[in-house]
Amino acid sequence: MAAGKTSRGGLKLCCVVTAVILVIIAIVVVVLGFTIFKPREPIISIHLLGLKTTNLPMLFMNAKQNATLPALVTIENPNYGAYKYKNSTSHVTFHGSLVGEAPLVGRYVPARRVVNITIHVSLVPEKLLTNPHFEKDYEAGNLNLTSTISLPGKVSFLKIFKMHGRIDTWCNTTVFLRAKVAESTCETRLIM
Ligand SMILES: *[C@@H]1O[C@H](CO)[C@@H](O)[C@H](O)[C@H]1NC(C)=O
Ligand SMILES: *[C@@H]1O[C@H](CO)[C@@H](O)[C@H](O)[C@H]1NC(C)=O
Ligand SMILES: *[C@@H]1O[C@H](CO)[C@@H](O)[C@H](O)[C@H]1NC(C)=O
Ligand SMILES: *[C@@H]1O[C@H](CO)[C@@H](O)[C@H](O)[C@H]1NC(C)=O
Ligand SMILES: *[C@@H]1O[C@H](CO)[C@@H](O)[C@H](O)[C@H]1NC(C)=O
Repeated sequence: MAAGKTSRGGLKLCCVVTAVILVIIAIVVVVLGFTIFKPREPIISIHLLGLKTTNLPMLFMNAKQNATLPALVTIENPNYGAYKYKNSTSHVTFHGSLVGEAPLVGRYVPARRVVNITIHVSLVPEKLLTNPHFEKDYEAGNLNLTSTISLPGKVSFLKIFKMHGRIDTWCNTTVFLRAKVAESTCETRLIM
């Protein structure tokens, strides 16, 4: 009799302990989910590297042909999970009109890593030359170009913490023609 009571009591205690442990685990998972494993947006920048070394007058002499210029896309994944994005296209504009584009093939960016990807911008010199702002800016010695890319993708960690969304990146590049220097400032925004 006494033994039966004790074992029933033991069973009850065991259930309470299990429940407490489960609650603690749930709290830890939720806390981790909101803290270190909370998905953070990757930081993306586009640098139009090719523009500073390109012989622009030469490019404009063959204005009818597309010029291929390398650009560097840097993707920093601050997450404890991999970031995966889909195929996309980067657009380069000058005073709001499209002058070039470059495909970017989708890939994984491992957790807490920075990757550099070289893309090839297909620039249409004629579009620059025929832009009404071109002459004045060229004479002033600097050209301002904007590169944009929109990357649909997701961050996941152990299949528990997942974030789907689109990351939009805008970069303003000023090419100082005489000094052959290009400076970029970028902004990334997560669109859920
Ligand atoms: C992404 O682009 C690569 C290279 O162009 C192609 O092989 C692949 O099929 C594309 N993937 C999708 C999902 O469109
Ligand atoms: C030149 O580049 C543009 C995009 O920048 C593209 O639409 C067009 O097809 C390209 N033309 C040639 C001949 O490759
Ligand atoms: C990516 O490129 C930048 C600029 O050239 C460089 O500072 C950085 O070290 C590179 N990072 C990696 C991981 O290659
Ligand atoms: C180009 O951008 C730079 C930096 O934002 C700015 O100082 C300059 O006035 C711009 N030039 C033109 C022609 O818009
Ligand atoms: C790029 O330039 C535009 C127009 O001058 C400005 O509104 C925008 O904030 C700039 N973006 C960055 C990332 O510098």
